[in-house]
Amino acid sequence: MYLFTSFVVLSASVAAVVGAPFTFPTPDGFPRPSPAQLAQIQQGAGGTLSNAFLPTSLKSAAITILELLTNNEISEVAFFTELLTNITTNVPGYDAAATAPLERDYLIKAISTIVNQEELHALGAEGILAGAGQPFIAPCQYDFPVSNFKDAILLAQTFTDIALGTVPQVQALFATDGGDEIRNVPLLGSILAQEGQQDGFFRYVQRKTPSAAPYLTGGSASFAFTALQAYIVPGSCPKPLSTINLPTFKPLNIVNKPMAKNMTLLYSVDGRVSCTDQTVVYLSGQNRPLRVPISCNVSTQGGSSKFKADFPFQAGFANGLTIAAVVNGTTGPLTTPNDVAAATVYGPGLIEVD
Ligand SMILES: *[C@@H]1O[C@H](CO)[C@@H](O)[C@H](O)[C@H]1NC(C)=O
Ligand SMILES: *[C@@H]1O[C@H](CO)[C@@H](O)[C@H](O)[C@H]1NC(C)=O
Ligand SMILES: *[C@@H]1O[C@H](CO)[C@@H](O)[C@H](O)[C@H]1NC(C)=O
Ligand SMILES: *[C@@H]1O[C@H](CO)[C@@H](O)[C@H](O)[C@H]1NC(C)=O
Repeated sequence: MYLFTSFVVLSASVAAVVGAPFTFPTPDGFPRPSPAQLAQIQQGAGGTLSNAFLPTSLKSAAITILELLTNNEISEVAFFTELLTNITTNVPGYDAAATAPLERDYLIKAISTIVNQEELHALGAEGILAGAGQPFIAPCQYDFPVSNFKDAILLAQTFTDIALGTVPQVQALFATDGGDEIRNVPLLGSILAQEGQQDGFFRYVQRKTPSAAPYLTGGSASFAFTALQAYIVPGSCPKPLSTINLPTFKPLNIVNKPMAKNMTLLYSVDGRVSCTDQTVVYLSGQNRPLRVPISCNVSTQGGSSKFKADFPFQAGFANGLTIAAVVNGTTGPLTTPNDVAAATVYGPGLIEVD
């Protein structure tokens, strides 16, 4: 059980973290490996890029979501490359004692395999964009709000959980937008399964059951896009993130520790909330979004607000990731994660319970 405080609390702590922002290229030439370097990456990844099908044109919504996906994969390359360096160079908190009882050699092999695989995911997504005449995506600078192995693995689990909720949205879009990208739906399924294998490992490392729940939590592209920006050094992207056609939301911080039972959560936001006009909505598993009232005892100080809302975990929530959001409106149907995102003012609040 763990409270994953929101990305803003995390990014606020970035300043306290020693270590320069991560910059590309990596030693293996990513993001622009030579053919020889690409061969090395493929060998390290245990397989090659797909040569099966590349659409020559893409619908505009598909371009947007591929830009998100590529940026996300590049950020994962940055994260795992840095994690690997921390482990191999025995940075305090990443030394053998901290990673025990995992064997160091096995851990290094596992993480370096993931680095190579994420590089291919990023190059593959970019390849689809490039095949349809879209420009390459240059990496930003990255800063991850962790400074020990345990927190790093929990962060890896959390952003992978978000990806596992987002890729099905990409599949749904590709399958219904009327474009040639429908033929890439199985490729996305293969990426989804691959990330699931990684996630099982991250969970195992924390001594959680490798598989969290029968159905994992869904998401929405704009939630993933908002969450991603917590790891990006503001203003460091050569192509500003604002050029990606997705909204972002103001942060929703979770103040107390969520547990696998019915309880009350304390939230904080930088802004106002209204218990008469807004509600908290949870996405958990593949259940319909669940709406709960905001307790009317909202404490406001300066521009920020603290408030409480029920966290009814025993109403059928899934283990693993739950996404919370403050939405406009107190009634009315919110059937899908995209409905929730469309009404969101603050979010995603990222909750990991076992
Ligand atoms: C690697 O260690 C440095 C120094 O503690 C830290 O700043 C950085 O966030 C760590 N990165 C990861 C991915 O664990
Ligand atoms: C309202 O919240 C404040 C701060 O959390 C608390 O001290 C106070 O007792 C609460 N009042 C009511 C009526 O619940
Ligand atoms: C947990 O809360 C839900 C929703 O309010 C309720 O239906 C359920 O009975 C509660 N379960 C327990 C064990 O309190
Ligand atoms: C929520 O309501 C506020 C106030 O009416 C409005 O300014 C804002 O655009 C709304 N946001 C969404 C996502 O509906």
